[in-house]
Amino acid sequence: MDLLEIKAVNTDVQRWLATAATNLRQHLTAHFQVQTKSGRNDLVTNFDKETEHFLVDQIRHSFPNDQIVSEEGFGDQVQQVSGRVWFVDPIDGTLNFVKQRNDFAMMIGLYEDGRNVLGYILDVMDNKLLWGGPSVGLHLNEEAISGPANEPLAAGLFGVNGPMFATNRESVRDIAFASSGARILGSAGLEFQHVILGRQVGYISRLMPWDFAAGKILAETAGLSVTTIDGDPINMLKSQTVLVTTHHALPEIQRIRQS
Ligand code: IPD
Ligand code: CA
Ligand code: CA
Repeated sequence: MDLLEIKAVNTDVQRWLATAATNLRQHLTAHFQVQTKSGRNDLVTNFDKETEHFLVDQIRHSFPNDQIVSEEGFGDQVQQVSGRVWFVDPIDGTLNFVKQRNDFAMMIGLYEDGRNVLGYILDVMDNKLLWGGPSVGLHLNEEAISGPANEPLAAGLFGVNGPMFATNRESVRDIAFASSGARILGSAGLEFQHVILGRQVGYISRLMPWDFAAGKILAETAGLSVTTIDGDPINMLKSQTVLVTTHHALPEIQRIRQS
């Protein structure tokens, strides 16, 4: 896509997100229909489904030939990343959404032939939209912003997945102890936002493609490293342990993993 097309897509996506987020905020006091998926803490609500249905409908209407990877079943069974592929997480942090009515995000990532195009992480309750991509730069709502300082691990807070931290799986606890302190937010999207905005030096979690697709585009646009925990390139169609961090902290984290 050329820059003019990307800018037109961006206008559409921001309109869809604004509509979906306004709808969610207006229904926060409504009764939620909550169902469990893989376990008692893996929840889905009628709002996850309705929001995904709405966003997927908008994409299909505007871009009928594109493929969609999404969490709640309205997308496609995507087997390869050629062409344009959209990644949709309608509510990231559903447990927070249900239990706190706060600290959840809406995320969209757009790739073309596996390359980063546009990423969106919307903190729904704060109405803070982090968006951008390699050809349009990085923005927080209307403001163009730059990426974070290239800090060492010891200089910043580190976001972790709770169970991985508790059991030191893949040395996550050791890594967090070498930082200024561990943080657990319960939303991969908001963790990515914190790293990109320089409030955390990194984040590690086992994630699905819709959890990391938008964040990867934005983090790489911000000059951060996004790899698997082993330092390998991300596979856009698989669950994997994802590490987003500064280029300064990356070799320190790899040393901790090898020690
Ligand atoms: C979850 C959140 C959580 C992460 C989980 C994700 P969901 O997303 O991002 O922080 O630890 O792995 O599944 O299910 O609320 O969209
Ligand atoms: Ca998610
Ligand atoms: Ca979700």
